[in-house]
Formats: sequence, C-alpha cells, structure tokens
Amino acid sequence: MFKNITIAIDGTAASGKGTLARSLSKEFNFAYLDTGKLYRASAVIIKKADINYENIKDIKKVIRNYDFSKFDFLNNSLKSDEISKLASMISGYKELREILLEYQKYFSNKKHGDKIGVILDGRDIGTIVLPEADIKFFVTASLSIRAERRWKELISLGQSTIKRRVEKDIRDRDVRDSQRKHSPLVAALDAILLDTTNLDANESFLLAKRYVEERLN
Ligand code: DC
Repeated sequence: MFKNITIAIDGTAASGKGTLARSLSKEFNFAYLDTGKLYRASAVIIKKADINYENIKDIKKVIRNYDFSKFDFLNNSLKSDEISKLASMISGYKELREILLEYQKYFSNKKHGDKIGVILDGRDIGTIVLPEADIKFFVTASLSIRAERRWKELISLGQSTIKRRVEKDIRDRDVRDSQRKHSPLVAALDAILLDTTNLDANESFLLAKRYVEERLN
C-alpha cells in the first residue's frame, strides 16, 4: 500500500517555516500544505459572512459547509494584519480546529501524483496533525528579526504598515498561539530545532536539506 513520507514543520509566526517548507517540497518532490492558510482563509470567510468571531456556532456552520478547493489561496488579503490577528483568535476554537484537522489528514493520506510524500507547516503539525511524521522541524528566530522579515514582506505586497506595529502583532500572536488550550504551539519532543535568527533563507534551507537527506537515505 502507498504511504506518503511525511514532514512536519512547526514554528513561531514569521520564523521562515513557510519559505523552508516550500523549498524542501520543491527539492525533494513533496506536496505542500501551508496550514496557516486554512486558518487565514477561515478568517476571511467569517469576515465576509459578517459573523462575529466569538460566535463559534455560526463559524462552525459556515466553515463545515465551505469548499476550500474554491478558495483563492493566492489572495494577498490573507497576509494582512487584520486577517493574521483574526486567524490567530479563531484558531483557539476546538470545533474549528477539528474541521480543519479533517482536511489536513485527508491531504496527508492522499497520493499527490508523482510526489513522494507531503510537507505540512503550521503550529501543531508535529504534535497533533502528524504525530508520527517521519521528520519534524521546529523553526524559530528572534522577535525583532521576524518582525523585520514580515514587515518587508508586507511592504513588498504593497500593504502600508509600520515595523513597531508588526512586531507587536507578532508578539501578541505568539502569546495567543502558545498559550491557547487546544493544540498550542509547542515543539514536539522529537523535533529538530532550527533557529534561523542568523541564517538567511538559503542557509536555513541547506541546513534542513542535510537533515532530510540523512533521514531519507
Ligand atoms: O502560519 P500562519 O502565520 O499563516 O498562521 C496564521 C494563524 O493560524 C496562526 O496565528 C495560528 C493559526 N494556526 C494554527 O493555529 N495552527 C496551524 N497548524 C497553523 C496556523
């Protein structure tokens, strides 16, 4: 029976986990799912449906019936400060997490053409979504370097924002993501820790690539 090789990448906001996941998936021919985008997309859908973010009953109803394959995941609004904050707030709901977990499991077990496996990045991949993952990374970096990276990204997307505010939003998000009751952000005990504070994207990639090569051989 076919079995995907699974790689779980978790980490703090703007730590570089998405860039790393994308590069590794290209290098080793894996299918890639950015699970943060599911939470961000949920935030956009809730906002469009004009539902109060505290109304979990209605959130559940609208998200359960939503066909995520129709969502435009390339939309720049997913990255906005407002959606980042809303996504972090609604991600505390167990009911929402359960719905999105089903989709993540479905994606992980499915065969994706000629891909040899799947890479998922997020906050609870190595602990909840893929506790049996073949390889796990936990990526982090100092708050100031993460704020700098996210600020540059937002500016490049044409969104006007100030660095201090980006830093505060990231700090608040880290606190919410790691202190929530359900599936908090935490490194799995068997995760490889990658601190990218002093590494650029390519250096982080080369380091992680060596670990993947070692485990695949
Ligand atoms: O990775 P990101 O910054 O795009 O994620 C946006 C928010 O979604 C994040 O603040 C917390 C939530 N999230 C989560 O709770 N679990 C995941 N696996 C991925 C994201």
